[in-house]
Amino acid sequence: MKGIILAGGKNSRLKPLTNAITKQLLPIYNKPMIYYPLSTLMLAGIKDILIISNPENIELIKKLLKDGSELGINISYEIQKKPEGIAQALKIGKEFINKKPVTLILGDNLFFGSEMGSNIKKAIKQNTGATIFAYNVYDPSMYGVVKISKNNKPLSIIEKPKKFISNYAVTGLYIYDENVSDYTSKIKKSKRNELEITDINKLYLRKNKLKVQILNRGSTWLDMGTFDLLSDASDFVKTIEKRQGFMISCPEEIAWRNSWINKEKLLKISKKYKNNYGLYLRKLINLDEN
Ligand code: DAU
Repeated sequence: MKGIILAGGKNSRLKPLTNAITKQLLPIYNKPMIYYPLSTLMLAGIKDILIISNPENIELIKKLLKDGSELGINISYEIQKKPEGIAQALKIGKEFINKKPVTLILGDNLFFGSEMGSNIKKAIKQNTGATIFAYNVYDPSMYGVVKISKNNKPLSIIEKPKKFISNYAVTGLYIYDENVSDYTSKIKKSKRNELEITDINKLYLRKNKLKVQILNRGSTWLDMGTFDLLSDASDFVKTIEKRQGFMISCPEEIAWRNSWINKEKLLKISKKYKNNYGLYLRKLINLDEN
């Protein structure tokens, strides 16, 4: 399975924070935002990853994550010249996708919860068309929203519905089969002049090939695209990490637990950080030895 992280966009809701830098590089407590979606892909066992961002920020993201070899993964990069919609990522990534299944994740989405990685892995294995992940939210109006039947079959999806249809927001994690590029070539720009990911999902739905996986209330999904959500996400990560002593979405830890890097490599990375981040990585190794 290949993975794409979409990490550009207009960033308009977070200005002036994003006047000089894209939001996916802003801090969420002790990590750059992009570490969270990257970690989600890695937890799902995905090693071959394409990151798409705008021309101004792609070099900064490259500086941060390089070719991924430090994490035992393979990262490549593509530019989105203008933010013309989430589904455009699938067009830009056509060669990378190369008629293979792909998982797309938005660069401002945070997923956390027990079994999150294995649940996504399972969904990938069982996917026969497209799989989306729905999460119950108090106010769904700012999201894509899916209405589902009693036995969890999707009935309809609407992007930012004006009228209430359901509390289930469609999260920014999408699994597609090898036909996604064909579907992508069929959609047209929406009224807000974007290639909508919801339109791709609707095409799968029409063919009866869309599955919905519900993330239960014991799991956490946050998007981090407004001032409040950005700050909430930092508070959330800080609270859990301080309480448990485990980090949320630490890519080096995941790489090591997946056996994609060995102890020596983890130790080497840890030495770059003369702070609690480095200490945490070193502690992981010690814990393993005791
Ligand atoms: O977060 C989940 C929601 O994401 C879904 O429920 C919606 O169906 C989906 O349309 C999307 O809604 P948003 O309004 O939150 O999308 P936004 O424009 O904020 O973009 C989401 C991420 O994708 C963000 O990190 C910026 C990036 N992006 C977006 C667009 C449109 C790009 O990199 N390029 C783009 O052209």
